[in-house]
Amino acid sequence: MAIPRETVEQILQAARIEEVVGEFVTLKKRGANLIGVCPFHNEKTPSFNVNPARNIFKCFGCGKAGDSAKFLMEHEHFTYPEALRYLAKKYNIKIEEKEQSAEEIMQQSLREKMFNINEFADKFFVDTLWNTEEGKTIGLEYFRERGYFDPIIQKFHLGYSPAKWDAFTTHAKQNGYADDLLEQIGFSIKGQKGLYDRYHGRVMFPIHNLTGRVIGFGGRILINDPEKKSPKYQNSPESEIYDKKQTLYGIYFAKNAIARQDECILVEGYFDVLRMHQIGIENVVASSGTSLTMEQIKLVKRYTKNITMLYDGDSAGQHAALRGTDMILSEGMNVRIVLLPPEHDPDTFGKDYSVEYVTNYLKENAKDFIRFKTELLLKDAENDPIKRSQVIRDIVETISVIPDSIFRITYVKECSRLLDMPEQTLTNELNKILRAKLKKTLGIEDNVVPETNTTTIPQQQDTVEEQLPAGFYQERELVKLLLMYGNEVFVDVREEENGEKVYEQVTVAQYIIDELKQDGFLFTNIINRKIFDIFDHALDEGQIPNDQFFVSHEDETIAERAADLLLTPYKLDQWKKYSIYVKSEEEVLGAVVKSSVARYRELIVDDQCKAIEEELKATENLDDQLILLKRKKDLDDIRKQINEELGIVIAK
Ligand code: UTP
Ligand code: MN
Repeated sequence: MAIPRETVEQILQAARIEEVVGEFVTLKKRGANLIGVCPFHNEKTPSFNVNPARNIFKCFGCGKAGDSAKFLMEHEHFTYPEALRYLAKKYNIKIEEKEQSAEEIMQQSLREKMFNINEFADKFFVDTLWNTEEGKTIGLEYFRERGYFDPIIQKFHLGYSPAKWDAFTTHAKQNGYADDLLEQIGFSIKGQKGLYDRYHGRVMFPIHNLTGRVIGFGGRILINDPEKKSPKYQNSPESEIYDKKQTLYGIYFAKNAIARQDECILVEGYFDVLRMHQIGIENVVASSGTSLTMEQIKLVKRYTKNITMLYDGDSAGQHAALRGTDMILSEGMNVRIVLLPPEHDPDTFGKDYSVEYVTNYLKENAKDFIRFKTELLLKDAENDPIKRSQVIRDIVETISVIPDSIFRITYVKECSRLLDMPEQTLTNELNKILRAKLKKTLGIEDNVVPETNTTTIPQQQDTVEEQLPAGFYQERELVKLLLMYGNEVFVDVREEENGEKVYEQVTVAQYIIDELKQDGFLFTNIINRKIFDIFDHALDEGQIPNDQFFVSHEDETIAERAADLLLTPYKLDQWKKYSIYVKSEEEVLGAVVKSSVARYRELIVDDQCKAIEEELKATENLDDQLILLKRKKDLDDIRKQINEELGIVIAK
């Protein structure tokens, strides 16, 4: 049914883009705008802008842009009327609609019909729980018996489906809902006597999507059936509105707490979520018994990069915890694991202990995944050397899925300690895997990329450094930053003459090339210089080539250098001051790029100053001396400027 045009206008005017988007994307204030990580494409640094003055959003990364309705259509896959209805509800605008006739119900889109019947069912189950004799004595009593209080039962819309075999089906049919819809969405199952209720005699958990609409249900049987004639939980089948791999139970109630606390606690069951909420821990969602999917992880990633898995302490729970980790890591997220005492799941644990005890337990027992996995696997392997080497390979394999090389190398260090193995051995193993992966993604035959020995540099460092040109390592470091992060954006803070701070978004490539060109400090190594020139030229054209461009470059020396640098771990001393649990990757990247550039410039300045001093000693000619002194003064100015910039980097 059409919404009157005036109402549409009224809705669109009332909708505040920052509020609508803010439900789904964590936004931070930046000047007059708000900025966040784009939900429509994969990015690490935020380029998704919300402009409250114009009431629109725009992503500078993928180009998506529009108003509140457009955002909802893109993000929630709403139709235009669905988006408008959502906004109308949010802003309390009444859409003049007549009581729907059976015919009108027919005309709604299937998705709308499904949302509609779910809402209808939700009301019915809740009403039955609270207002019927059977609901109160059986359903409500069951929740109370398990230690749940009314507010939590109400908040999660828990309900009860009567024991009579077709109670809901009949009620729905009387209200105009068609048989095939009831079957399709899973409330009813066709039996010999006709349609009967899937959930009869169960307590009901509605499953909400991000916006709080009911997309499915889970129903728990009241008495554990020892003969297992029917499963403990019956769940809705998948439908046009319910995609299990995209769903996390509790996300609607947890999302704000997840963003606020910058952490998501992942549990297995419905009751685990309820219990945590009841004791006041609200950043909790459940994977609902199925193994974690990539889509679920991406859903969490909209709000935080930190996942804590809270699993049962038994062996099954431990191994279940292992299953999700590689996927989480490959999304560049941080995983920690907390195991409960073997006799507990989060529900019973939260029931038996105080919130202080639980919070403290979580804090003290959260283990970084690598430590968890290493310890668990080592325990399994005991002293069997063959199993042990399998463990090592297994763990290095896991480390290799981490996209960020900085974290990889941190983990290698940690692992070498835990396994009591030389770091170098693990690094070699890791590089082998990474090289194989890189070749595979690039579709290169095994013998095309030469086996550059990527691990010799750190080892030789102490002995060979003397003979290397100044800034050898810093130069490599900068080329590496160019190759790995050239496209990434960070916020550069500059101080103006008048002391005012100016914030400017800049790509890593642009920053490095500009800074070096400004002093005329071009790379000295001939291959690095070629790479520098390619970037310089590309930036003039408004482009930034990516790592693959270099790895498959026709100039073999460039391709080789790129592959080498991309696979060499970072020298740790530079990175270790940044903890694994970083707040914002962008901030770290900015700080690292700036300090790397500053260090390189500093070294070149020092080197040139030394050379000038030598020359000064050797020169008798006054004019020559003056020229040298003038150059020295310029260098001193640069040094002063570098120190100031380093000051800003540190202060940030
Ligand atoms: P559990 O067997 O651990 O159940 O399954 P639970 O959540 O602790 O429930 P209680 O405490 O026994 O009542 C974990 C989750 O796996 C899914 C449900 O989502 C459940 O919460 N599950 C389990 C099913 O979907 N069907 C089942 O038959 C069992
Ligand atoms: Mn349980």
